[in-house]
Amino acid sequence: MQLFTKNTYQVRQQKLRQLAEDGLLWFPGNTESPMNYTDNIYHFRQDSSFRYFFGLNMPNLHVVFDCQSGKSILFGNDYSIDDIIWVGPQKPLRELADLCNIDEVRPLADLEQFIKGQKSVKYLPPYRHDHILLMSNYLGLDPQKIKAEASVELIKAIVDIRSYKTAEEIEHLEQAVNVTRSMHMEAMRQTAVGKYEYEVVADIHKKLHQKHCELAYPVIFSINGQTLHNHHHNNQMLDGRLVLNDCGAENPYGYAGDITRTFPVNGRFNSRQKEIYQLVLKMEEDCINMLKPGVTYKSIHLASYRIMLEGMKGMGLVKGDVDEMVQEGVGGLFMPHGLGHMIGMDVHDMENLGEDYVGYKDMQRSTQLGLKSLRLARELEEDFVITVEPGIYFIPELIEKMKTENRWTEFVNYEKLEAYYDFGGIRIEDDVQVVSDGSKILGKPIPKTIVEIEELMNF
Ligand code: GLY
Ligand code: MN
Ligand code: MN
Repeated sequence: MQLFTKNTYQVRQQKLRQLAEDGLLWFPGNTESPMNYTDNIYHFRQDSSFRYFFGLNMPNLHVVFDCQSGKSILFGNDYSIDDIIWVGPQKPLRELADLCNIDEVRPLADLEQFIKGQKSVKYLPPYRHDHILLMSNYLGLDPQKIKAEASVELIKAIVDIRSYKTAEEIEHLEQAVNVTRSMHMEAMRQTAVGKYEYEVVADIHKKLHQKHCELAYPVIFSINGQTLHNHHHNNQMLDGRLVLNDCGAENPYGYAGDITRTFPVNGRFNSRQKEIYQLVLKMEEDCINMLKPGVTYKSIHLASYRIMLEGMKGMGLVKGDVDEMVQEGVGGLFMPHGLGHMIGMDVHDMENLGEDYVGYKDMQRSTQLGLKSLRLARELEEDFVITVEPGIYFIPELIEKMKTENRWTEFVNYEKLEAYYDFGGIRIEDDVQVVSDGSKILGKPIPKTIVEIEELMNF
């Protein structure tokens, strides 16, 4: 099990104690998730906050942390002889607890009485149903109310701690990006006309597992890049199409990479693809250059729309005043997602704590197409690590819907757009650290310009 030094957990727990101020905090660690029967399980994934503060990357553990005294109790069981027969020996929990600065170990069976005996317990919103039921039982609360009763104070404290990445976390994020880089470069090398998407996805998995990593999220690898979270890999890759690859590694310490590249199936961009690609690249590079502490990410998201619409106006696809178009939400027609999000142990970092607590603080979320999916709007600060992932997509169903509803007719050349219904979509995504005077792209460079991509694909 990969652990940081005891000191790292000590410092993290100390911060938690200071920020959460008082009360008893209950952190249920994750259990195994069955696929089709109890013993046939999915890959185990620990809860990120549990692992962040208490290190242990194993199922069936709970920690109760007393903010007043700073004392922590681990509830869990040492392996029985039956466990050892089936899954092998494991270090005693007492020994593991020491490595993570946990004071006391008690059997799992003691947890129920312990929780039931408390006047109040603070917890984070659970996202797994077994936890919802267990917590409902121990806390005497309706399962429907468990999420809503989570401690806002605790959520805010943890967002305040985990948003700022330490030097050792940056190192792990960088390592995850470098493994992700090898997955992307291999995908470019292996892509060829006539192959099926799943063949290249297999090559991506091989690169990942060779580095002892897991997926940070399901691979998006598709000639239908206009479908944003497309997890199907069953298309044959045809000459003249683009393929969008959005995949990332989670390193053995639990840190994620999240990178997107888009490239031509046949290894050469045609002139129409070049034109749109250059525009997305400009959106990405210009936005990365705008990042620095003190600017809101919402303003960068809107700047990406401005660059996009300016460029598309030059191509005759839209017309009129660009600022007005941005104001009216035309950007959402071609990029109906947000420009990016925080990244850390979770690919959408801390999303389980509530997107608005992580990305909005006191700001209001817009309901406009595109902006409503912006996960991060707040002012940026030094040592935030975020993604920048603009795209341009031609979604025939969305364009047709807006045309039928006579939306934005003064701005959008609907006739001209019909020629792009078979285009697909382009997204370019990098992981970026906000530093004192700007920003820094994490990891070694991954081919991104047209020349770099064509060179790699035609070696
Ligand atoms: N891979 C999902 C995302 O880019 O947000
Ligand atoms: Mn992504
Ligand atoms: Mn992303």
